[in-house]
Amino acid sequence: MRRIDCEEDLVLMYRNSLAYAVIAAWSGQGLFHKLADGKARTVEDLQGDNRALAITAPVLAHLGLLSSDGSRYALSPTGKTLLEAGALSLDSAERTHGDLSRFDRVLAEGGPARAADGSSRVSEGGVREHDPEGARAFMKYLYRRSERSVVEVARWLMPRLPEQPHILDLGGGHGRYGHELTRHGAEVTLYDRDLIVDIARERYSDSLQYISGDFMTDPLGGPYQAALLSNIVHGLGPDENRTLFARLADSLAPGGLVVLKDMFLNEDRCQPEEAALFGLTMLMYTREGQSYTPKEMEDLAGPSGFENIGVVSVRNLRFSLVFLQKTG
Ligand SMILES: C[S@@+](CC[C@H](N)C(=O)[O-])C[C@H]1O[C@@H](n2cnc3c(N)ncnc32)[C@H](O)[C@@H]1O
Repeated sequence: MRRIDCEEDLVLMYRNSLAYAVIAAWSGQGLFHKLADGKARTVEDLQGDNRALAITAPVLAHLGLLSSDGSRYALSPTGKTLLEAGALSLDSAERTHGDLSRFDRVLAEGGPARAADGSSRVSEGGVREHDPEGARAFMKYLYRRSERSVVEVARWLMPRLPEQPHILDLGGGHGRYGHELTRHGAEVTLYDRDLIVDIARERYSDSLQYISGDFMTDPLGGPYQAALLSNIVHGLGPDENRTLFARLADSLAPGGLVVLKDMFLNEDRCQPEEAALFGLTMLMYTREGQSYTPKEMEDLAGPSGFENIGVVSVRNLRFSLVFLQKTG
């Protein structure tokens, strides 16, 4: 993100947030889908308040999501591609900006954020068991976003493991990481909540093995040569992570590896941008989650007999891998 050097920079940032609010509102009202057939329409043909549509449609055309001849609007080629990929199926403006507009209360009283009706917006790794449709949409989003990361994870992890290792994909979600590891000869057990295991099984059937349960309390199976925790540790507090490392130590074979894939902070805690900002998401949607540094992970895992044997930063994809080896 741009640094703020003057008031104009703040104004630019405000404009960006207005633009995102328009996209989220159109998405929440199903307006992009109304244009999915490729036909150009006037605002009167769309559903909503005509004045609001007439003011917001040009913003979307300006952003390149719609094309316009001045009176009729259609999806642009980019808009069409993003809609078809599911990338324009965003949380509604209320769910995104509503939570942010109540952020002053989070700052004063602590998270997680509350919805307009006062209910908690807490989730467990982005999943709310009472919202299966939301969980499915979130898994689709993570699946879509992980296309290149899964390749990098396999590339850095597999050479560190024996032939045909048994790997635990803890909180494996959609299953794309686990599946990529099987393509490199691993046997993979995906561990997640019931609801999510069903989603992964629909996609990968018996190319993965599955265990459903609560990874903080239920048996993890094993012994495994490695456990992959992709986007897991940031959702947990320090004590929860300490407990989880102790549980993983018990389910790993001697010399086994835990690999943490996450957006880790530098030692100054201000960089990189994605890790610093992601802390905010954790503040709003988890009880104790936060962004961590690799050193903090090492300190939390150390008492369970793990040693930090390396950190790999995959800068172009904005994540790092921390490798912890069970030595004790
Ligand atoms: C942010 S998603 C990560 C999914 C996948 N590993 C990825 O990186 O795309 C976190 C996953 O952890 C699972 N999870 C969180 N807490 C859990 C718990 N206590 N027991 C089992 N699964 C849990 C969630 O259901 C979700 O699928």
